[in-house]
Amino acid sequence: MNIERFDNEDVLASTLATRLIEALSLKPRIVLGLPTGRTPVALYREIRSRSQRGHVDWSQVRTFNLDEFVGLGAGDEGSYCSYMQAELFSHVRIEAINIGMLDGRAANLAAECARYERAIEDAGGIDIQLLGIGANGHIGFNEPGEALEAETHVAVLCAETRAANAGLFGGDLSRVPTHALSMGMATILHAREIVLMATGAEKSAAVAEMIDGPITTRVPASFLQVHSRVTVMLDRGAGARLA
Ligand code: GLP
Repeated sequence: MNIERFDNEDVLASTLATRLIEALSLKPRIVLGLPTGRTPVALYREIRSRSQRGHVDWSQVRTFNLDEFVGLGAGDEGSYCSYMQAELFSHVRIEAINIGMLDGRAANLAAECARYERAIEDAGGIDIQLLGIGANGHIGFNEPGEALEAETHVAVLCAETRAANAGLFGGDLSRVPTHALSMGMATILHAREIVLMATGAEKSAAVAEMIDGPITTRVPASFLQVHSRVTVMLDRGAGARLA
């Protein structure tokens, strides 16, 4: 793993935005895997402000988001679909047809997961997968446990993860869905390149276990150790417990 440390999350976001925009200019039909959450907010802010200044051609870019809550979809408060529209998609000239999102309201969730796997494959696979990390070491919604799922699947959310997402629902934990759809571990690991961002001291234990600990289903992010092109971008807080 290639570990990079930054003084603060703004420098991290600006560095990554520069790299992504350069990657877009080198490969206009790039396929990006995108995360939600608090961590990428600064990155999306930076990307949309540069895009609004007109330097970025989004016309052929394709995206696939990592996950979505079961029961929620486009227009729903708290959905990752709404988050992506607000933070990025409605501010850049991406074609709606090129945006890949899981539909948490699909009548047949297993069929929706299979559709997503096929769509990623049909797009030629993910070139750059961006990730955040949960304080419990999850990536996407691949939660710690006895076993992990390889492909896109229905995930049961840990209490800790539901609490971490309560902000999307006005702080009301009872409104946070109990299940989500998520890319699986193999879906993520098939990406040609992976960039994981972590900011804040509350992520420092998970980051240390991911990098210095054993590969274990108890820390899903530790599986990134087997991938040959992973960059981990950390601010001071998130990198505080590294050996
Ligand atoms: C969420 C998402 C993840 C995200 C992680 C960290 O539950 N499912 O994709 O990376 O948890 O979120 P945050 O950046 O808000 O700390």
